[in-house]
Amino acid sequence: KIRFGIISALAEEQEGLIQAMQTPVHHSHGMREYTCGTLWDVDTVAVLSRIGKVAAAMTAATLVEKFEVTHILFTGVAGSADFNVRVGDVVIAEALVQHDMDASPLFPRFEVPLTGLSHLPSDLGLSSRLADAAGIFLEGMSGPTVHRGLIGSGDQFINDGVRLAALKDALPGLLAVEMEGAAVAQVCFELGIPFAVIRTISDNANESAAGDFMHFVKTVASRYAFGILENFCRN
Ligand code: ADE
Repeated sequence: KIRFGIISALAEEQEGLIQAMQTPVHHSHGMREYTCGTLWDVDTVAVLSRIGKVAAAMTAATLVEKFEVTHILFTGVAGSADFNVRVGDVVIAEALVQHDMDASPLFPRFEVPLTGLSHLPSDLGLSSRLADAAGIFLEGMSGPTVHRGLIGSGDQFINDGVRLAALKDALPGLLAVEMEGAAVAQVCFELGIPFAVIRTISDNANESAAGDFMHFVKTVASRYAFGILENFCRN
């Protein structure tokens, strides 16, 4: 039996999903509230992870071990790391990398020690379904597009063009930066749980990132999460 865990990083994104839930039941655990119910007829547990890799890993592991979800989706916003990826566009991860992981010279930079992996792949089927759902959502807007590729996660809000350029150099194909996805990816990889990460671009990870991020989150982030997941669940 399928049960989805839906993790959001921001309260604004989660609110709409919780309101759309049928028969919601709230459980508090580990300083978070997990809401169990059905979302457009899909058995779902929705939770706010809070920000950062440890917060996200804790949340993903709890969803699997305590709430027995079989699949995980992460929705949130990200900074663009590619000139073709613009504010308002959607990025769906094909793979995720912890861009602040560096145990060199013991292990290659970015490699998660003792896994042999730096690029953690997401589930192709789930990601394709999300891409279709996002495409349908964006169709009406004429402008924003869907991208699929590499997302980098680290415990840093990137608001520095020089720092971003260095990351792009070190990680070819990097499309976006955020602070949770690759942590969820590692937990799901280790527990054998299919997962996908979808991010709406809120800023360009440069000197104006903080202001752009705040504005975007307040104005549009919730509509994206709701609209895309509605299409996802109904397909
Ligand atoms: N999430 C949204 N924008 C971000 C940025 N610039 N850096 C890290 N995480 C983000």
